Amino acid sequence: MIHNRILFSIIFVVLAVMPSAARTLRVLAVGNSFSRDAVEQHLHELAMADGDTMIVGNLFIPGCSLERHVRCARNDRPDYVYRKVGVDGKRVETKSMTLARALADEPWDYVSMQQSSPISGIYSTWSAWLPELKDYVKARVPKKAKLMLHQTWAYSGDSGHSGFRNYGCNQDSMYRSIVGAVNKAARQYKIKYIMPSGTAIQNARTSFAGDHLNRDGYHLDLGFGRFTAACAWYGALTGRDVTASSYMPEGMNADLAAVAKAAGNAAAKHPSQVTNLSAMKPSTVLYKDASVPVEIRIDDLLSRMTTHEKVMQLNQYTLGNNNNENNVGEVAGELPAELGSVIYYNDNPDLRNAYQRRCMEESRLGIPCIFGYDMIHGFRTIYPISLGQACSWNVPLVERMTSYAAAEGRMSGVDWTFSPMIDVARDPRWGRVSEGYGEDPYANAAFCAATVRGYQGKSLADSTTIAACLKHYVAYGASEAGRDYVYTEVSPQTLWDTYLPPYKAGVDAGALTLMSSFNDISGIPGSANYYTLTEILKNRWKHKGFVVSDWGSIEQLVNQGNAADKKEAGLRAFNSGLEMDMMSHAYDKYLEELIDEGKVDSVLLDESVRRVLRVKMLLGLFEKPYTGNHPDRFMRPDALSAARQLAAESMVLLKNDSTGILPLDGVGRIAVIGPVAKSSASLQGSWNGRGVYDETVTLYQGILDRFAPEAEIRFAKGSDLDKTTEVELAQAVDTACWADVVILCLGEERRWSGENASRSTIALPEAQRQLAEKIAATGKPVVMLLSSGRPLDLSQMEPLANAIIEVWQPGTAGGAAAADILSGDVNPSGKLAMTFPRSTGQIPIYYNRRGSARRHQGFYQDIPSTPLYPFGHGLSYTTFVYGEPSVSSSTFRKGEKVTVTVPVTNTGLRAGAEAVLWFISDPAASITRPLMELKHFEKRELKPGETTTFKFVIDPMKHLSFPDADGNIILEPGDFKIIVGPHTVNLVME
Ligand code: NOJ
Repeated sequence: MIHNRILFSIIFVVLAVMPSAARTLRVLAVGNSFSRDAVEQHLHELAMADGDTMIVGNLFIPGCSLERHVRCARNDRPDYVYRKVGVDGKRVETKSMTLARALADEPWDYVSMQQSSPISGIYSTWSAWLPELKDYVKARVPKKAKLMLHQTWAYSGDSGHSGFRNYGCNQDSMYRSIVGAVNKAARQYKIKYIMPSGTAIQNARTSFAGDHLNRDGYHLDLGFGRFTAACAWYGALTGRDVTASSYMPEGMNADLAAVAKAAGNAAAKHPSQVTNLSAMKPSTVLYKDASVPVEIRIDDLLSRMTTHEKVMQLNQYTLGNNNNENNVGEVAGELPAELGSVIYYNDNPDLRNAYQRRCMEESRLGIPCIFGYDMIHGFRTIYPISLGQACSWNVPLVERMTSYAAAEGRMSGVDWTFSPMIDVARDPRWGRVSEGYGEDPYANAAFCAATVRGYQGKSLADSTTIAACLKHYVAYGASEAGRDYVYTEVSPQTLWDTYLPPYKAGVDAGALTLMSSFNDISGIPGSANYYTLTEILKNRWKHKGFVVSDWGSIEQLVNQGNAADKKEAGLRAFNSGLEMDMMSHAYDKYLEELIDEGKVDSVLLDESVRRVLRVKMLLGLFEKPYTGNHPDRFMRPDALSAARQLAAESMVLLKNDSTGILPLDGVGRIAVIGPVAKSSASLQGSWNGRGVYDETVTLYQGILDRFAPEAEIRFAKGSDLDKTTEVELAQAVDTACWADVVILCLGEERRWSGENASRSTIALPEAQRQLAEKIAATGKPVVMLLSSGRPLDLSQMEPLANAIIEVWQPGTAGGAAAADILSGDVNPSGKLAMTFPRSTGQIPIYYNRRGSARRHQGFYQDIPSTPLYPFGHGLSYTTFVYGEPSVSSSTFRKGEKVTVTVPVTNTGLRAGAEAVLWFISDPAASITRPLMELKHFEKRELKPGETTTFKFVIDPMKHLSFPDADGNIILEPGDFKIIVGPHTVNLVME
């Protein structure tokens, strides 16, 4: 220790006595991303401010270790990127650089070397490679050049980087190991200079800036973090007191710049010792300064907030007229100015702005409110319901559509949508199957990630992006017997196998918020579930945003038998990790009391408020609290065309018999019959945002627009959705008899699906069946268009039609899209994302079930045990033939990837799109697996006669592994099958 101090005092003296007259310093870092953080940004400017010039070279390979540097040197490998800041301050990048060339590029004064961060505290990794690298460098630079070792260190205390485990995920021990290893290496290999950027980072962490210098948990934050490192380099290279420098990065907060300089200066003086900077206090209001890193702003804001103000941030009320009968709450008149959030029932920004002004101007600290809303399948332009979207298998289109929806919402005053709903659902009696992406976890995950990307865009501070909310966390879709709000019996295995994967995908895609669920997960409600809310979401998945309860789901813990009263419900929910209370008034009423009673920890309160404030900051609400005026925001042409395309792609041609009635061609008389034909409400479905019925193209209108005047079109209603009369039926029969073809438009009322919309049978009402029977009896060709929010029991209807198209609830452009399909202008490409049972009694029936003990027995005695239309079913007007698949290698090891390809040919006469679904099967595993599981899909257009090769690159750890009942990932060697179209490919993992 004493030895170290002496050594570093000498180093500092040597550096400090270096001449300080104007000069040009040439510095080269042989490094990785950490050297980029330290040298590329500010070193040159610091030198300039002191009247010097500095040429800075950064030669790097991301994550590069000393070993790799040596191997590159030995083989003269051009693996480096070389970024050089010249005398003029311009940065030039050269790719494919070798170490030798960079060393020869300038007569360098300093060359630094560094070990890659995860192992830079492990001395043996230095000693193995440093001597050779040192000799290589020395031989190629001027004699006077000084070699340096760079302390590669920046990890935050909660870093998720796997290299952090080398140090027990302990910041202190990692930092000390690194300093120890660097010093030891310096001593042993006689390298006099240490670049103390790691120490500078630690110094800065002792200041009011805290542990907020990272951008991803281990690299440096681009502003303050990088400047701190640069200051350390500058101080160490020049021996100057960098606190005296007049340079400050443009736009950087002066208090932070001062911390960076003090930290850098102290590190240059004491490279192995942390200097406490807690005496430095900010002179500005940091939370109002957008240039300050978010977490530092939040620290500052939290330090100013009272407990009451903190608690208010955790509550959500409503603002505007509530149009959802399931959420009958108060419409608050005079909302408190300190409120965290409102559900915004409006599409006019004026109301938002008025209330926001109150928050900004009438609350003590001016904290903006976040405005949430249920934008489930569109805001004003209404797209198909999510279940329909999933049947399109067109992920990029869904991503694009959500970005249009986000723009309409944000420009109307909504910052946050309660979407996507990603509850895997296998019981179509449950009305909410319409809101999710079907029965498959992988499909839900894929569409979830796409919608999160679409809503949140590249920056949430944009005026057209919106925060996403994954809901309903978790396993709400397992509702018993399809009843809503009820108990769900979910084994831990099924939780991990089926219900959690879409949420993981959404969290990985960056979803800022989640909504907790109403259901009880095998005895512990989703809204008071520490395991799911804290252990999984926060501790394992490191989610940084917040969770909002569902409407009243905290007070409903009392009904569920999990709390004696609302206060206890609030306590349970909060301590489980549920940050925001939607309309229970449990937090606003009781949280302060619970803190006073010592039942709620104030540290958890701060952590929860931090999460809410973080989302608000990321949305840019502190800087731009108000919504601008965008009169042309609704129903823009790109949104409308996406609505039509997505509606058409979501429609599934379930049947097209040998009469070949579809596509309709040269038909003279078309009868449009049925209760859904002119219903725009049915087409919009539930959760239709701010959709306007009159702006929806009905099925009748779409057919009229497409086929008249060439064809004559007549309409007869025939029945209501659930009742009919002899007169109506007779009129319908007459109209059918007149026609060449009947388009029979049947289905569901919009409120038959969605929330609180369970049905004991998924067959259509008797009235519609009667109508279909009468029409079929006319002998005219019948095309059935079905609009529903769930799979239907069609066993009685199916024989009554020549062709059937499930159009779902297709939204604003629904009628136009249906006409596109009927006419063949668009070739149907939808495939079912949820099974159509033969009868309600088969439910639950889904493709990814586990194997039965007796494959030849156990079937229903009265009906076949197969579904009427299985998952993935969907016809086209052309034919696709799947050729023999090829596999890159049928045996492989754990770390190796395997590629399977399949040629698909459009053998018909029309162009069409084919969604190729790839399934895996693991026939023998220590925990039984579903018979087949979707793991990949891709949709592409094929011209007539065209062959396209589809590819699935199998990464065993990702595609062939499975979780155990606590989420540990297991990958077992053995046989696997890859199923694509009619083919099965056998693989063996050794
Ligand atoms: C209750 C629903 O379950 C949820 O999906 C919705 O987001 C909230 N109400 C807010 O409207």
